[in-house]
Amino acid sequence: MRPTSKSFVRNLKSVLASQPWLKPVLKTIGNARCRAWDLVYGVDTCGEIPLVNLDFQSQNKASGHAYHSLHPSVIRAAFGALSIQHEDYTFVDFGCGKGRVLLIASSFPFRRIVGLEFAPALAETARRNLNSYRSSHVKCSEIEVITRDAVDYELEPEPQMLFFYNPFRRSLLDKILRTRRLAPAPSARLAGFGFWPFR
Ligand SMILES: C[S@@+](CC[C@H](N)C(=O)[O-])C[C@H]1O[C@@H](n2cnc3c(N)ncnc32)[C@H](O)[C@@H]1O
Repeated sequence: MRPTSKSFVRNLKSVLASQPWLKPVLKTIGNARCRAWDLVYGVDTCGEIPLVNLDFQSQNKASGHAYHSLHPSVIRAAFGALSIQHEDYTFVDFGCGKGRVLLIASSFPFRRIVGLEFAPALAETARRNLNSYRSSHVKCSEIEVITRDAVDYELEPEPQMLFFYNPFRRSLLDKILRTRRLAPAPSARLAGFGFWPFR
């Protein structure tokens, strides 16, 4: 797309997004696009699943946020904007849910990919998705989904790209950063997503 067409589409999107009556329509279109992506790639990553609907126990369940994911094109664009040598990094998704981010990360040549998820049913779906994913662009196939509370995950002494997309309350993130001796970036926001390089 030429730059002028790109800015036209961007402007159109922001005008449309500012119309409250259009929100449900845009949401339906967004959901349909996500379902189409799942169908094409042979996976199940759609939907919003509140943690209270899942039968598991954890002292951090109340601090955790529901499963939902970003649109694949948004995730891909975010990865594409990372100016790193992917081969140097292990990618870790804190709260990987059904694993959509792991699938997209696999089209970049990371050294390894790890998904942490404390809800066993979601972790199991993520594993199934890794097995059924139909993509010819996989550049990293060393991928592991670990059923574990993010608080209990020990960072390996290797360069890691930590990924957070709205997994839990800020207080829990602060605890994780404190115990891992990671300096909290002033720009870190939990109501969004972010990559956190760790070396
Ligand atoms: C908003 S979803 C993001 C899913 C995934 N990262 C993505 O972007 O597609 C947040 C996920 O974090 C998980 N989660 C919340 N608290 C957690 C914790 N303490 N340890 C591990 N996973 C957690 C939830 O179960 C949920 O699947």
